[in-house]
Amino acid sequence: YTIEWDTTAAQKGGYPSFMAKEIHEQASAVADTLRGRMENGRLHLDEMKIDPALLRSIDKIVVVACGTAANAGSVVKYAIEHWCRIPVEVELAHEFRYRDPVVTEKTLVIAISQSGETMDTLMAVRHAKEQGAKVVAICNTRGSTIPRESDAALYLNVGPEIAVASTKAYLGQIGACYLLGLYLAQERGNFFPEEIAEIMHDLEGLPDKVQAVLDNAAQVEQLAHDMADATSVLFLGRHVGYPTAMEGALKLKEIAYIHAEGFAAGELKHGPIALVDEGQPVFIIVPSPRGRDSLHSKVVSNIQEIRARGARTMVIAEEGDTDVEPYADVVIRVPATRTLFAPLLTIIPLQIFACELATAKGLDVDQPRNLAKSVTVE
Ligand code: AGP
Repeated sequence: YTIEWDTTAAQKGGYPSFMAKEIHEQASAVADTLRGRMENGRLHLDEMKIDPALLRSIDKIVVVACGTAANAGSVVKYAIEHWCRIPVEVELAHEFRYRDPVVTEKTLVIAISQSGETMDTLMAVRHAKEQGAKVVAICNTRGSTIPRESDAALYLNVGPEIAVASTKAYLGQIGACYLLGLYLAQERGNFFPEEIAEIMHDLEGLPDKVQAVLDNAAQVEQLAHDMADATSVLFLGRHVGYPTAMEGALKLKEIAYIHAEGFAAGELKHGPIALVDEGQPVFIIVPSPRGRDSLHSKVVSNIQEIRARGARTMVIAEEGDTDVEPYADVVIRVPATRTLFAPLLTIIPLQIFACELATAKGLDVDQPRNLAKSVTVE
C-alpha cells in the first residue's frame, strides 16, 4: 500500500499554481510587512541604519527598480511626495545606470527588488553609491546582494515568492515603501505624531480589505474564463491608478501572452483612443469619489468616451460608487480606503484576471516562457 505524494502539489496548498496561492496569501503578506514597526505612536524601523540627521538633509529621492518593482515605485512616489514634500523620481534601473543622472550626497536612492539579485538594479545601486548617495534597499530576500551593498535594508517579510510573476511581493514593496515614506516624514517633522498614527491605523486596516477583495475572486475568475480568447486588453488609470494599470498590463503580458497596454487615462485623447473599436476590452481603475479634486469625475468621463466608441468596459470601483454604473459592462468592487492606499486593493482583481486567464488557456502560469524569476544578467 503506497500513498502518492506530490511535493509540489502539496507546496501549492490546494491552489492550481504558486501564483494563485501567492495571490491568495496577500492579506497576511501585507500584515506581515507592517507588523511590529509601530510602537507608542511612533514608527521604529530598526533596519534603517542611516543617520536621521542625514535623512533630514536629503533633497531628492530616486527610486530604481525593474518590472513590477518599478511599478511599485511609481505607486509610492505619489505617497512619499505628498507626505514628505521631497521630489521623487522613479527610474528603470537599466536606464538610470547608462545616463548621467544628477545624484549627490543629498540624494536618497531607494532600490526595490524582490530577489535582491537583479543585475540591472544592482548596477544602479553601485552607480548611485559611487556618487555619494545613500541607498535603502526594499527587498524580500534576506542576505541577497542588493541589501548587502546598500546602506540600509527594509525587508518585505512576505515569505518566499515562487511564481515568476510577482504578486504578494508587489503588495509588500508598496507597504514597505509606505512605511519608509512615513518614517521619513516623522524624522523630518512633516507631520504631528498623531497624524502618522492615524495614517498607520488606516494602513493596518488594509489586510482585512485585501481579504475582502480576495473573497470576491469568483466574479473575476468567471470574467477571465469568458475572455480566454482575447487578443488585446487595455488598462487605464489616473494618479495611483496609472501605475496600477501598468502593472495589470504587465501581469497579463507575462503569463497569458496577450497584448496588453497600460495608459494614463488622461493620455487617451493624445493617441491611445485610436485603438478603441467595437468590443475592445478595457479595464479602468476608478479613484474614490471621496478623493481629491475632480479625479473621479475625470475618469468617469474617460469611461464614457471609450464606451461610446464600442469598448467593453470593465470597471474597478469603490463600493457604493454608482456614478460608474451607466457606463460599465462589468463593475468589480473594492472596499473604500484612502486614495493613496487604493493600489493595494485595485491591483488584486487584475492579478486574479491574468492568473485565471492563463490557467484557462492551459499555460504554465508559474514558469512563463522566456522569463526567469530573477534576472541576474544585464
Ligand atoms: C514580475 O512579475 C516580473 N517577473 C519582473 O518584472 C520582476 O518584477 C523584475 O524582474 C524585478 O525583479 P526583482 O524585484 O527581483 O528585482
